[in-house]
Amino acid sequence: MERHIDRVLIHRDDIARRVDELAGQIAEDFGSPSGGSAADRFMPTRPDITVVPILAGSIVFLADLMRCLPLMARVRFLTVQSYTGRTTTSRGPAIDGELPEDLAGNAVLIVDDILDSGKTLALAREKILERSPAMLRTCVMLRKELPEAMETPVDYVGFDIPNEFVVGYGLDYDGYYRNLPDVVTLRPEVFS
Ligand code: IMP
Ligand code: MG
Repeated sequence: MERHIDRVLIHRDDIARRVDELAGQIAEDFGSPSGGSAADRFMPTRPDITVVPILAGSIVFLADLMRCLPLMARVRFLTVQSYTGRTTTSRGPAIDGELPEDLAGNAVLIVDDILDSGKTLALAREKILERSPAMLRTCVMLRKELPEAMETPVDYVGFDIPNEFVVGYGLDYDGYYRNLPDVVTLRPEVFS
């Protein structure tokens, strides 16, 4: 796998530092006291945050981000299909399976790996809004420097990267390379 790597775009240490910063911002925005009783604060009737990761690309980011969040947190998964098989361009996303049911009145954070055309995040946002959350924010680890991506509303961004196909840190090509700890580009031979 290592020999398939062309360049390391973002090293694991820089990712870890940035994830910590993002979590700090998120904790500040979501964690302000909601005015419940002392008992509520000890055992809240609602979580401070419901994290909705978009599968499968966000799993590595999710695992790191969650562990940096000092909040009462739940996770509800959302599966959105975009790339299928050996392609590096999306044909437009679609929700796969059920939407999480119990989001009404919750403070929700959608988490995705990368903002490319922005269609995945826009669809996820639209669908989650149908569940009437009290608050909805969005977070992506990476955003490509493309007009569509830059114009897509998003609240938290880890890194802006050039418009290149990247893998690692949860991102895949044909289902592989998600377990690479750094964000990297692949050698051209891999695609042929
Ligand atoms: P969008 O809908 O075009 O914004 O695409 C977002 C989804 O496409 C992400 O959740 C990724 O799963 C996938 N994707 C976009 N760009 C890349 C990339 O460079 N490498 C791997 N997956 C990507
Ligand atoms: Mg994805």
